[in-house]
Amino acid sequence: MPRHLKIIHLKTVTSTNDYAHKLAEKGEKEITVVLADEQTKGRGRLKREWRSPKNKGIYASFILRPKNRGKIPLLCLIVSLSILKALKDILPLKIKWPNDLMAGNKKIAGVLLEANTGPTHEKFVIAGIGLNLDTEKKDLPLHATSVYLETRKHYASGGIFNKIIKEFIRLYRDFNKNELKAVLEEIKLNMETLNKPVKVRIKNQWIKGIASGLAEDGALILKDKDKNLKRIVCSEIIHLKTRSANGRKG
Ligand code: BTN
Repeated sequence: MPRHLKIIHLKTVTSTNDYAHKLAEKGEKEITVVLADEQTKGRGRLKREWRSPKNKGIYASFILRPKNRGKIPLLCLIVSLSILKALKDILPLKIKWPNDLMAGNKKIAGVLLEANTGPTHEKFVIAGIGLNLDTEKKDLPLHATSVYLETRKHYASGGIFNKIIKEFIRLYRDFNKNELKAVLEEIKLNMETLNKPVKVRIKNQWIKGIASGLAEDGALILKDKDKNLKRIVCSEIIHLKTRSANGRKG
């Protein structure tokens, strides 16, 4: 592990993101990672619950103080890519923009990025990772899965966690140097959202279109029905079903 990395390992916590947030407010340096065996109030995006049973998943939050402040939404995809790369020899995954990792059509991991960016605030970002590792069906929402459910094998969480950190540190270095060409290519290559019909929520409205590109800062470029291009940052997204030549939805 690199010298500038600090890991705080807790048995139980409400949410590693909340714990990391408090530490960051007190001036904790990057990169500090808060890791927990279980969370009693794990959170996902849009105030959803993130089920976090004891020793069944990886629940961790990174305290970051990124230099490349104009491109913070891209960090969400960089964290997702780190998880995908860490698991590549175990299970093929795809990134569903902006923060989900999918095994087939089931969610296996999610990233919760919370930035403290106001002018009067100390600037930091908390990047929370939830990976369902040994989680059983009964402990998961309907459209979710775990590494165990997909492979029927038990993997040690420590080994996978170390790999995620290793991948992340390399990608984060490029992010801070604004050397993004290779990173963006790799994200696009592994993103299931691109070139698909989708509908995204902008404020209270759903807009349909084709996910036609990814901007340098991680925003999705949506081409609407009038061929106008719109930049979408961290929105809720639904992949729409396409019809194949035989008329079946797929
Ligand atoms: C999502 O898919 O909506 C994001 C899920 C993020 C869950 C992780 S688990 C560790 C960290 N602490 C939390 O409370 N949430 C994130």
